[in-house]
This record gives sequence, structure tokens and C-alpha cells, in this order.
Amino acid sequence: MDYRALITSEDNKTFINSIEKRNITDLPNNDTLIKVKYSSLNYKDALSASGNKGVTRNYPHTPGIDAAGIIEETSGNVFKPGDEVIVTGYDMGMNTFGGFGEYIKVPQEWIVKKPDNLSLSESMAFGTAGLTAGLCLRKLLAHGLKPEDGDVFVSGVTGGVGIIALMLFKKLGFNVTAITGKLDQEEFLKNLGANQVIDRNTLDLDLISPLQKPIYSGGIDAVGGKILANLICSTSQRAAIACCGMVGGLSLDTSIFPFILRGLSLFGIDSAESLIDVKKEIWSNFSSSWKLENIDENIKNISLDELPNEIEKILKGNQIGRVRIVYD
Ligand SMILES: NC(=O)c1ccc[n+]([C@@H]2O[C@H](COP(=O)([O-])OP(=O)(O)OC[C@H]3O[C@@H](n4cnc5c(N)ncnc54)[C@H](OP(=O)(O)O)[C@@H]3O)[C@@H](O)[C@H]2O)c1
Repeated sequence: MDYRALITSEDNKTFINSIEKRNITDLPNNDTLIKVKYSSLNYKDALSASGNKGVTRNYPHTPGIDAAGIIEETSGNVFKPGDEVIVTGYDMGMNTFGGFGEYIKVPQEWIVKKPDNLSLSESMAFGTAGLTAGLCLRKLLAHGLKPEDGDVFVSGVTGGVGIIALMLFKKLGFNVTAITGKLDQEEFLKNLGANQVIDRNTLDLDLISPLQKPIYSGGIDAVGGKILANLICSTSQRAAIACCGMVGGLSLDTSIFPFILRGLSLFGIDSAESLIDVKKEIWSNFSSSWKLENIDENIKNISLDELPNEIEKILKGNQIGRVRIVYD
């Protein structure tokens, strides 16, 4: 059976994305074949689609680190044909063909059954970015962070992780400072629940001071680099930060003072290799106590053919919110 997919190919160190036909016999020899109904665009997909060998070693390749769809056939013992399921992370979209194709074939251990009260399309409005924001929130809540502790921040807030982190914090009653490079989006961010919006350029500086005014009781950081380095030094006593991204830089040149004088905790989040039971817990939360009724209002729906343009945009940091790929 033929299917359509985005194929990233390497031609003399240049990487080209095109929509091509493939046959399901080209898919890897895993136990479960899924007809993909929705996928979503994440920063890691753009890295894979532009030849980042830290993400994808071998080309031609189909990126797409998440997918929601229906089981077509399985030789495993957990699911049955017709089950509606969600797959995120592990090796999917990295070195296993991913959700930017109409079919995926993955091990059953990577699959989560879609919870009731969350549609397949809603699940890819969250996608990996949402799952990551949820994992960050889970860590902070387990640490004991509460709305009454004080303001929290979200950096990279107009991006996929950031926007869902903002909405989740709001849903749980936190007072949120949105940190962005796109000040023209202030109204949009306030409509989503930001209490304050600040310019990321005021933080994107060499360490301002090792102990700055203690503003934040916690936060979710999707950018890293100098911005995270300064935010670490702007936290109050017993604060907690969950960090997951690196669009602002790979190194972290900060101070030890907030850790040893204010008891700060810094949690690293990796969504791809999270335990499947933890992923199930987050998806279950998205269908119940963390349900975001307005999730669909802030999504750009695109077809597979529109994907190459959107990949260019996310690489330039110009994407606002989430992009969902919708298959027929
Ligand atoms: N650890 C994990 O498991 C995991 C999972 C998903 C994503 N991630 C990582 O999290 C990060 C965000 O992912 P995403 O999918 O949300 O990406 P995204 O949609 O591209 O959002 C990134 C946002 O960061 C801000 N930004 C862009 N360039 C920047 C720069 N040079 N300096 C500071 N801020 C910049 C922009 O927001 P503003 O203009 O509003 O500032 C941009 O919208 C990426 O590094 C991604 O790899 C990690």
C-alpha cells in the first residue's frame, strides 16, 4: 500500500524536504502499524528536517516526533485494530520514520491509548510541546510549587512549549510573567492568561548579578542560555525552575548563589525518553484536571504539502503557537 510522506534527503550536505510517495513495506519492522490522522510540528522536527545529525543520523528520513491516529494492524498483545492512540518521542521521527507520513510503524511500548474526553485532534494540539510543558508542570507541582508562593515565568512563551506552559499555569491559578522576543504579541499573550509580558532582550545579557531581585517562585524555561542564567538569579527562596529547551544557547553560565543561598531547584526535562506511565499520566491530566478548553483556538492547521514552509519558520524562531498537520 502506498502512502504520502515528507522525505528529507541529503544531497551533497544540502538537505531538501519534499512530499513523496512511499510504500508501507518501506516502514521499519516494528509490531504496530498506525494510520496517522494528526501530527504536529516541534522544534526537534525542524532540526531533523534540516540535517542535524545529533537528531537524525541517516537520510532519507521522515521526521515527526509525534502522531495521533488509529491502529491499522498489530502483532502485539496490548492494542487492537481501531484503537485511537498517541505516540510521542522515543526514537520516532529521529531515526525511526515519524509522523510526517500517513503511516507509522512503531513498537507497542511507545504507544499511549487516547484517553476519553480528549480527541485525537486535541492531542496533537498539545503534541510533544504540550507533553513537555505538562512534564515541567508535573515536576514543579511535585516540588510543592503553589500559586500563593508568588509569580512564575514562562520563557520562549510564543513557542509551542511556552504557549501551553502559559495556558497550563493559568488554568491552575498561577500569576504568570510571559518572557518573549515578540512584544507585538502582548495582547495575544494577555488574552491567554499572561499577567505581565516582558522583553526577553532585557534578560539576554551576560549575568547581570549573581543575586538579583527575588521575583519568581518558579518557572518553565524553553530557551536556556543567558536568559535562563539570569532567571535563575531572579528567584525567591525555595523556588523551582523546570528547563527543557536550548533555542537561546547551549551553555549555562550562571551563579551558584541562588542554589546555596535561596535553596533553588533546577529540574531538567526530557520528554522523549520519559517513562510511558508518566506520559500516560500527563495525557490523562490533559483530558481531565488540566483540560484546556481553548486549545483548538490557538492552532494553525496545515496539510502535509504546507509543512516545508512551516519548518523554515520555526527554524527562524518566527512560529507563534502550535502547528498541527491534518491528514485526510
Ligand atoms: N526537553 C524536551 O523534551 C523538549 C521537548 C520539546 C521541545 N524542547 C525544546 O524546547 C525548545 C522550545 O521548543 P518549541 O517546540 O516550543 O520551539 P518553538 O515553537 O520554536 O519556540 C521557541 C520560542 O523560543 C523563543 N526564541 C526563539 N529564538 C530564540 C533565541 N535566539 N533566544 C531566546 N528565545 C528564542 C521564541 O519565543 P519568543 O519570541 O516568545 O521569545 C520561540 O517562539 C526547543 O529548544 C526544543 O528543542 C525540548
